[in-house]
Amino acid sequence: MRVLIGGEPGAVVTEDDFEALYARPAHHVGPWLRVNMVSTLDGAAQGDDGKSGGINNAVDKSVFHALRRLADCLVVGAGTVRIEGYRPPDLPLVVVSRSGQVPPTVCGAEPGRVLMATTEHAPALAEARALLGDENVLVLGSYSVDLVTLKAALGDRGHTELLSEGGPHLLHQLLAEGVADELCVTVVPRAIGGTRLRIVAGSEIDVPLTPTLLLEEGGTLLGRWHVSR
Ligand SMILES: NC(=O)c1ccc[n+]([C@@H]2O[C@H](COP(=O)([O-])OP(=O)(O)OC[C@H]3O[C@@H](n4cnc5c(N)ncnc54)[C@H](OP(=O)(O)O)[C@@H]3O)[C@@H](O)[C@H]2O)c1
Repeated sequence: MRVLIGGEPGAVVTEDDFEALYARPAHHVGPWLRVNMVSTLDGAAQGDDGKSGGINNAVDKSVFHALRRLADCLVVGAGTVRIEGYRPPDLPLVVVSRSGQVPPTVCGAEPGRVLMATTEHAPALAEARALLGDENVLVLGSYSVDLVTLKAALGDRGHTELLSEGGPHLLHQLLAEGVADELCVTVVPRAIGGTRLRIVAGSEIDVPLTPTLLLEEGGTLLGRWHVSR
């Protein structure tokens, strides 16, 4: 693939270079939270199957897996875990939920592999504690998870390379609350119209982003933007 921005513009790189190309800034202290999403050129975050699998491609999958390898903890909205049918991954998964309902596909996970970040008023709080263990249920807010506190709590547990895979409602809040440090977006060269969710869903926000990397492979763009502070 070709480097268009960042690294050595014009250079040809391979998946073996992802670790260096996607390294977190060396000067950063504390947990770094990267969000990885895929979009069509006309902004859809879901295909006609209602999932990201309907729009992603092989290049996107390669960066998706590379970013997981660089991470030490995954933070994903409960909607995405349910719709995409997440299984317990190789790294700890934190499911963010207001309801406290543990998505069925992660219910039988080994203790400590799946954590839930939820709220005091979550209707299914007791059930989450019973399924995941008290120590794996983080109550971080009254009606909505305080994402600033979540990031700090994961840092206190020793996680410094946080990766969120969305979804769009969680990403909106991660950006709105200044919790996301970086957004990685794959843009697949397709336009699909319709009324799909975009990668950020919610009220209007205006978060400036600085491009630090842009790669191209077969018309697909892999970009990396830092949240400007
Ligand atoms: N294109 C992509 O890269 C990409 C990535 C991920 C997902 N998707 C797609 O996006 C769709 C899902 O979208 P979505 O926006 O509904 O997903 P989402 O953000 O993962 O899920 C929303 C749910 O997450 C929980 N949540 C989010 N923020 C919270 C907060 N601050 N505090 C407490 N709970 C919070 C709530 O769960 P409860 O309902 O349990 O309270 C909420 O209903 C699917 O079609 C999926 O395939 C696309």
